[in-house]
Amino acid sequence: MTARVLANYNGKEMYLDEVTISPLDRGFLFGDAVYDVIRVYQKKPFLFNEHIERLTTNLDMLKIRCNMEAFQKDLHTTVANSPEQDGMIYVQITRGTAPRVHYFPDSSITPNVLIWVQGFDTTKHEKLWSHGCSVITYPESRWSHPHIKTVNLLGNCMAKQEAVEKGSYEAIFVNNDNYIMEASSSNVFGIQNGILLTAPTKQKILPGITRQFIFGLAKEMGLETKEHYFTQDEFYTFDEVFITGTTTEVMPVVKVDDKIIGSGEPGDITKRIQRLFFEKTRR
Ligand code: PDD
Repeated sequence: MTARVLANYNGKEMYLDEVTISPLDRGFLFGDAVYDVIRVYQKKPFLFNEHIERLTTNLDMLKIRCNMEAFQKDLHTTVANSPEQDGMIYVQITRGTAPRVHYFPDSSITPNVLIWVQGFDTTKHEKLWSHGCSVITYPESRWSHPHIKTVNLLGNCMAKQEAVEKGSYEAIFVNNDNYIMEASSSNVFGIQNGILLTAPTKQKILPGITRQFIFGLAKEMGLETKEHYFTQDEFYTFDEVFITGTTTEVMPVVKVDDKIIGSGEPGDITKRIQRLFFEKTRR
């Protein structure tokens, strides 16, 4: 039997399977909602302030007015009351429930706030963290604001599904100009001649919290970093590739489509970054 997942919906603590959502919820009808995923290590939400800052920016961009103080209090209570020591917090804030109109209804509408805390089983990831994963490339086919973390994820789901059907872990979006953007639920890094490369955000990709944390680790390691676009062909020739995300953490990539990256094993710099990341998160 799987353990019940502790949740909080609009300020009330309950189990996730007890939450009921109105069919007029704008997240359900229009995808009019933002979300975030925060990793919990030993009961402590990791990079919490950074996640809250991004969530607040996302809410502001969509003019969703949410009481962030009450929200943060509920979030900490749910983490404290959850039996999980290590896991992840899922947070979704929709504009609220209102008669169906396309424009944003009256600003007095109250957002619907969902929080849950679930255990995070790393066994599936552990093999990939040490041996590396394969990824596919996939045409950029998402809506034009992927820098806002909204629940409009069908493009991401389709890409990930194709990856899974091809026996790969992730799908990496390539835009019309042949540039590598990000993956369906992670950011992409490459290493060439000892330099760490990743695409700039420029409102084209999600400003990943883990991505930003990696810049800090690179600085600590004395590693040069460059944010610039690279083509799919350049990508295939990188010495090392890895992807990052809240649940992906630092995952080496050893194969992109049918091309082997480097020696086909996780690269040395990637392994050093990964080691440092694990040291900082698993003290
Ligand atoms: N996804 N890019 C996309 C499209 C993402 O969905 C995510 C995270 C990332 C990495 O961001 P961060 O480091 O802040 O987790 C990049 C989450 C984990 C998800 O949808 O489950």
